[in-house]
Amino acid sequence: MERASFDWEILEKLRMRFLKPESISGVYWESKQDLLQYHISFGKRIGWKWRAVWEELGRLGWKPESKILVDWGCGSGVAILSFLEAFGSEAVEKIFLWDHSTLACEFAKECIREIDDQVSVDIKSLEEIGDRLPETLCLASHVLNELSHNERQALGTSFRQAKQVVWVEPGNFESSRLLIAQRELLLKNMSVIAPCVCQDGCPMLKEQNSRHWCHFFARSPQEAFTEGEWARFASLLEIDLRSLPYSYLAMNRSDLEKLESPENVSRVIGKPRQYKGFAKILSCDRRGLNDFELQKRDDKALWKSIKKGKDGSLYEWQKLGEGRIKQGTPSAD
Ligand SMILES: C[S@@+](CC[C@H](N)C(=O)[O-])C[C@H]1O[C@@H](n2cnc3c(N)ncnc32)[C@H](O)[C@@H]1O
Repeated sequence: MERASFDWEILEKLRMRFLKPESISGVYWESKQDLLQYHISFGKRIGWKWRAVWEELGRLGWKPESKILVDWGCGSGVAILSFLEAFGSEAVEKIFLWDHSTLACEFAKECIREIDDQVSVDIKSLEEIGDRLPETLCLASHVLNELSHNERQALGTSFRQAKQVVWVEPGNFESSRLLIAQRELLLKNMSVIAPCVCQDGCPMLKEQNSRHWCHFFARSPQEAFTEGEWARFASLLEIDLRSLPYSYLAMNRSDLEKLESPENVSRVIGKPRQYKGFAKILSCDRRGLNDFELQKRDDKALWKSIKKGKDGSLYEWQKLGEGRIKQGTPSAD
């Protein structure tokens, strides 16, 4: 891949497009330059989210169960490239790329070739993959809000035939909700590995939880703060690089070995909200979704861990009172 500097005109054009997905109709990549600019900026930022997801899945003991990968709606290939970065070329034998933009598929293929010129890469739709779909590990990223309802249904219905699915979407309300709908579709013959700690219906779908959404925050690497172009990217395009919100979903087909979370584990959603002397923590587990309060004086170590946000998002609440966490610890991996 040629080394490129940010082209502000192209980046602003792309930004406007992504801010208004309703304005998108059909294929929008106009040139290889568009894809290159996406790849080194927005795409790179998405890659940082994928990195966080692979790390979390690793902590949970998740492993790829197939060397045949699909990247659907691949764009510049960020999802598959992040997989290669996390697991290495030896984890992949065959890659199927799909995007309704041929330009995007070709660009992604070129990026993969730069890392591994041996691996087999084919551009194929899910229909064309056909009988091989049940052998695959399917990836998708930042695509749901560009699809119609029927396209989303068709995608979920195909994906649930795969061995494994890992899906990353923006951490906003709409995308998270669209991903939750995919979870419900996939649950028919898959089980959830993460972020959910159980296989029940998503509690976010209950009326009383309709204002919440399932999201997490990844960390930006040092370069986002030290390299000059990123500072301009952040200010010109009004993108906060300190905050990388994302939603994700990892599922294995039900016939694979189960990877159950321990009974007593809870997932902390989003960022705990800090107030003077206490924090509000949105906690999801077998009890459903609960907005608990944690008083600093009840458990100082837990308060510190939650505030620093360095211990991941899985916790065990050892003592719960009426709407309150009285004692807890980060969950041991
Ligand atoms: C925001 S980009 C994300 C690209 C890449 N997955 C990533 O995470 O960087 C969305 C991609 O979905 C593709 N796309 C949108 N609608 C599609 C459809 N109906 N079929 C296939 N690809 C589609 C677009 O062409 C675009 O490349």
